Amino acid sequence: MAASSAGDPLVLVDGLTKTYTLGEVAVRALRGISLTVTTGEFVALTGPSGSGKSTFMHLLGCLDRPTSGTYRLGGRDVARLSKRELARIRNQEIGFVFQGFNLLPRTTALENVELPLLYRGGLSGARRRAMARDALEAVGLADRLDHHPSQLSGGQQQRVAIARALVTGPTLLLADEPTGNLDSRTSIEVMDIFQRLNVERGLTIVLVTHERDIAEYAARVVSFLDGRVRSDRPVGRRRTAAVELENLTVRHDEALHDVETDLEVRRA
Ligand SMILES: Nc1ncnc2c1ncn2[C@@H]1O[C@H](COP(=O)(O)OP(=O)(O)OP(=O)(O)O)[C@@H](O)[C@H]1O
Ligand SMILES: [Mg+2]
Repeated sequence: MAASSAGDPLVLVDGLTKTYTLGEVAVRALRGISLTVTTGEFVALTGPSGSGKSTFMHLLGCLDRPTSGTYRLGGRDVARLSKRELARIRNQEIGFVFQGFNLLPRTTALENVELPLLYRGGLSGARRRAMARDALEAVGLADRLDHHPSQLSGGQQQRVAIARALVTGPTLLLADEPTGNLDSRTSIEVMDIFQRLNVERGLTIVLVTHERDIAEYAARVVSFLDGRVRSDRPVGRRRTAAVELENLTVRHDEALHDVETDLEVRRA
């Protein structure tokens, strides 16, 4: 992509609408969204079911075209790009993470992560594997390369999916309810990965979530209602997943210590 540095507008959306037509019925999923996301931002997108969040993410990801309005990505008007250029952008500049992980079942973690590199072409098998291994290492899964999805926990599967989204070195990461299928501790672990990628690599992240406490890991929350932006504000007291995980571990250790002391007292 045209090199983008922190603070530059990466996503520039103006008056975006999307109307789905089903037979006689027109569903106005987006009714005029205007929004700017700068490089290095971490934005949470919230709003009730049916408010247009996924529709918007599909447009941002160049998976679908708007009915009207403009979308500029890294300075380019997406509507003017060829199919081939859009495919390249989807493959190399944007990473996707979904609620349902979407991993290939009878395929190892390493092979799942390699897949986007196969589409790209021009890389040797050894190079692809090395890149996939690096991506899995970045999400803390260096010791699970040969596991199939069914041999991994939900949180681990989501980390494989994040590694797959990262392996091509995208500038924009789009995540639609990535913690929707995870328990609370595993959700914090996944948010820790997103926060680290945002800080350490300057990755721009747009994340959809229903959960208010998950949105508070982002720096800014945009809320949708009926296909429009209802509010757009910075997070007042931002949560830090790494600190919370640390505290959870300490509390777990303390609880264990209490149980052990209790047992010793009873034995005595
Ligand atoms: N492919 C489609 N064809 C027709 N209508 C659609 C399509 N996709 C979404 N819609 C409609 O557009 C509206 C917005 O849907 P969207 O999936 O964007 O909502 P959402 O905010 O992601 O909801 P949720 O929180 O339940 O995932 C809804 O009324 C939905 O029924
Ligand atoms: Mg949705």
